[in-house]
Amino acid sequence: MRILRLKCLGLLFFALCPFYFCCAQNKTIDQKVDSVLGLMTLDEKVGQMNQYNGDWAATGPITKDGDKQDQIRKGMIGSMLNVTGVAHTRTLQEIAMQSRLKIPLLFGQDVIHGYRTIFPVPLGEAASWDIESITGAARIAAIEASAAGIHWTFAPMVDIARDPRWGRIMEGAGEDPYLGSLIAAARVKGFQGKGLGNTDAVMACAKHFAAYGAAVGGRDYNSVDMSLRQLHEIYLPPFKAAAEAGVATFMNSFNDLNGIPATANSYLQRDILKKQWNFKGFVVSDWGSVGEMIQHGFVKDNYEAAMAAAIAGSDMDMESRSYIQNLSKLVKEGKVKMTVIDDAVKRILKKKFEMGLFDDPFRFCDTARERLQWNNAEHLAAAKDIAVKSIVLLKNSVPKAGTKQILPLSKTTKTIALIGPLAKAKSDNLGFWSYDWPDDSIRIVSLWDGIQKKLAPGSTMLYAKGCGINDTSRAGFAEAIEAAKNADIVIMSVGEARDMSGEAKSRSTINLPGVQEELVMAIQSTGKPVVVLISAGRPLIFNRIADQVPAILYTWWLGTKAGDAIGEVLFGDYNPSGKLPVSFPLTEGQIPIYYDHYNTGRPATSDSDKNYRSSYTDISIYPKFPFGYGLSYTSFNYSDIKLSHSSLKAGQQLKASVSVTNSGEYEGTETVQLYIRDMVASVVRPVKELKCFQKIRLKAGESKTVTFKISTDDLRFYNNDLKYDWEAGDFEIMIGSSSKDVKTAKVNWVR
Ligand code: NOJ
Repeated sequence: MRILRLKCLGLLFFALCPFYFCCAQNKTIDQKVDSVLGLMTLDEKVGQMNQYNGDWAATGPITKDGDKQDQIRKGMIGSMLNVTGVAHTRTLQEIAMQSRLKIPLLFGQDVIHGYRTIFPVPLGEAASWDIESITGAARIAAIEASAAGIHWTFAPMVDIARDPRWGRIMEGAGEDPYLGSLIAAARVKGFQGKGLGNTDAVMACAKHFAAYGAAVGGRDYNSVDMSLRQLHEIYLPPFKAAAEAGVATFMNSFNDLNGIPATANSYLQRDILKKQWNFKGFVVSDWGSVGEMIQHGFVKDNYEAAMAAAIAGSDMDMESRSYIQNLSKLVKEGKVKMTVIDDAVKRILKKKFEMGLFDDPFRFCDTARERLQWNNAEHLAAAKDIAVKSIVLLKNSVPKAGTKQILPLSKTTKTIALIGPLAKAKSDNLGFWSYDWPDDSIRIVSLWDGIQKKLAPGSTMLYAKGCGINDTSRAGFAEAIEAAKNADIVIMSVGEARDMSGEAKSRSTINLPGVQEELVMAIQSTGKPVVVLISAGRPLIFNRIADQVPAILYTWWLGTKAGDAIGEVLFGDYNPSGKLPVSFPLTEGQIPIYYDHYNTGRPATSDSDKNYRSSYTDISIYPKFPFGYGLSYTSFNYSDIKLSHSSLKAGQQLKASVSVTNSGEYEGTETVQLYIRDMVASVVRPVKELKCFQKIRLKAGESKTVTFKISTDDLRFYNNDLKYDWEAGDFEIMIGSSSKDVKTAKVNWVR
């Protein structure tokens, strides 16, 4: 009898649903959310907080259990990841429409640097310092992903990273909070386009909240212990920028922060994110991070894990099954308040409404649109454009006295030898967070193809692999040396394989893998002019090459159009303009090394002034290549700085100008960087902090005045009470072409 009554009630709800949704047309989204919430059982609410992996890809350890389709039908799943393509997403959404309340599923995916068209890895893109292009790349990724049924990308990754041993350094924007914040906002805007509700916009997700990039020793998933001042000053700004840019969701992180796993960290998720920043979206856990709190030793079992995570503000559980198995019980036993559940579910439902999925759950399931975006020539052109801008010229010297700089190469060079394990690579150009498509071998442009397209008829190319990426064998050296001897110029393509930087890809040594550096040195000793191209997801160490080979381009993993982009730069169709978004260490022993360090009480001022100073006795105090560094085929001269004032009062604006002259032979783009040092403060301040930059384009011989406007807002920092303010006193204003190459002026600011 009781069962029968319940069944009847169920039927009544079912019958009323279409009516409810129809009447909801004129309500605000919040009212609609409340109405749906009012219809939901506790189990259905918990279902919305549950996210499972689909079977298209595995981006974490897989749990094999039950029939997911049946669980969707029962309203036990709110979102799926790794389900892609219109056909596939439609099938599952149709099943969701068979559930009692017909709440649509959200489909999430790691669309990190492109979906079908692959852009440079984010660290590479960051080297462009080109905010508009970065926004554009995210926009295209969203257009392609949304056309394939995806609603939500787990990007941007905005973790500041200062340890290149950490494989995930490739996924972010490098070491600097200012540059990182601009790029975080740019990517959010790109992914979300004109706003959720447009079918070409996907929800962005700022991750990993927070401080994941500071894992001990660069070991992935490791702990983080840092002062709150450092957290607020260095690691949180890009997250705040993402929140201010309207990011729809956040993902928490695997690490514990000062002893509390981020997943159960209510200081991060409740106090900072949802209260101080007034974030209205929802927080998804990282893959299994709710359950992993058992291994952290923070909770005893999944019951306690679910309780701790939900109370701390983790709204959705990715893959750990802790919520679906325990949250209803926790509520019934009074351990988790219904208000906690309701708040999480409201946040999730709100996004589903904003995405328009309640109006039409299939609005991202348009096969014609999917087909149209499958091969979009404009997207490929944009991928090449940002790839060329991401390349960093590390060195371009004269191979022999009396000769010219080696780059750019002539298109009529008679014979070019292309040597190295990545010379003909295709998928290795894509980087870790990208997917394989059946026609990749046709679409991806290898370096070999890219160079061939540039060469004039009559020029010849020779090829030798030389060695494998991670091999110990030198058996291919002889053939490579022979090829080099028969060539006028040698181009060498070395670096990391696609799976050497990325999640769970920490490396204790970050040299060029295998015998690649030896191969380069063997070729260099033939006496032929050598250009080395290094493709990788992280800063590598290659000191012998850096010291002895005349020309080096750092080409990251540049994506689908890698070969074309490198060809443009090698032959001077594009004059390289990239600047490093992260310091390149001289040895692993220097790590962490970053430009905005404190001065200390005993600073080493040069390599000849190290005794009883903060330094290592056996190596230089400098990184191999500093933050902000990158050469051009031309040269730029900076004048001294002109300041509008030498002393200012609060509210007054300082104008700092330099004149930059292109003193070389080629037109080129320079990124003019402004750094500030606060000389004396109530807490010690870094030796310099990036505050602004401008990109300028100059013809050969042309000069431009670059003016920066600085206000006291730019001088603010977190004091010991975590108050964000500025303090009066002396400041150094530095402007230059890298963090190490600056002109300096002094100014005084009074309150
Ligand atoms: C784990 C990674 O840490 C996270 O960044 C990613 O979004 C999820 N797996 C889903 O693939």
